Amino acid sequence: MAAIFPPIDFEPNPGFESIISDLLVQGYSVVDHFFDEETVSLLRNSLRTHFEENRFKKAAIGNRTNELIAVGIRGDYILWIDEQLHNTATALFFSKINSLVAYLNRTCFLGLLEKEFHYALYPPGTGYKRHIDAFQNDDRRKLSIALYLNEEDWSNADGGALALYVAGADGEKTISVTPVAGRMVIFESQKIPHEVLVAHRDRLSITGWLKTS
Ligand code: OGA
Ligand code: MN
Repeated sequence: MAAIFPPIDFEPNPGFESIISDLLVQGYSVVDHFFDEETVSLLRNSLRTHFEENRFKKAAIGNRTNELIAVGIRGDYILWIDEQLHNTATALFFSKINSLVAYLNRTCFLGLLEKEFHYALYPPGTGYKRHIDAFQNDDRRKLSIALYLNEEDWSNADGGALALYVAGADGEKTISVTPVAGRMVIFESQKIPHEVLVAHRDRLSITGWLKTS
């Protein structure tokens, strides 16, 4: 008898599988050492170099057709990353992100066709008030990703935690994620309100979105 489903023609990836089950069960997943120390350090140096070259700009709220700079809401500086302009660091970054996206599409039928990522630097004293990652005129963002590029000695006392506000049977609970180097957080962009608490030293990351088109 012919098989209804074609055989699985790719290796199951236990790391990706646990991200998927976290997303299904709780709407978010936190993965430590998503990238090794060497890659994180290349990405951190690349961020720092671009920042020192003044290539970052003050992040806005809203999207490009509806932009508003609001320092009290969001204090980070960002630089969009062009996947085509390879350097070693971003090539390593996109290689792993692209396999995650391919895996999500093959296993979850999410139809993730587009992505956008930027470097972000929050100077001391800044954060990003509670929000969801959707625009009034654009709801294509499905999954949000943050990869932390902080120095290895980042501690809770440095602030800058990501607070995820997750709905539960007995009300909302707060999940606090310390932005330690190499940690990746992925969550459902429009279902999970979240906030970046004020950091007390430069807080470095790559943040991005997987989108339908
Ligand atoms: C964002 C955001 C979270 C983080 O940029 O929209 O929520 O931990 N970032 O940097
Ligand atoms: Mn956000």
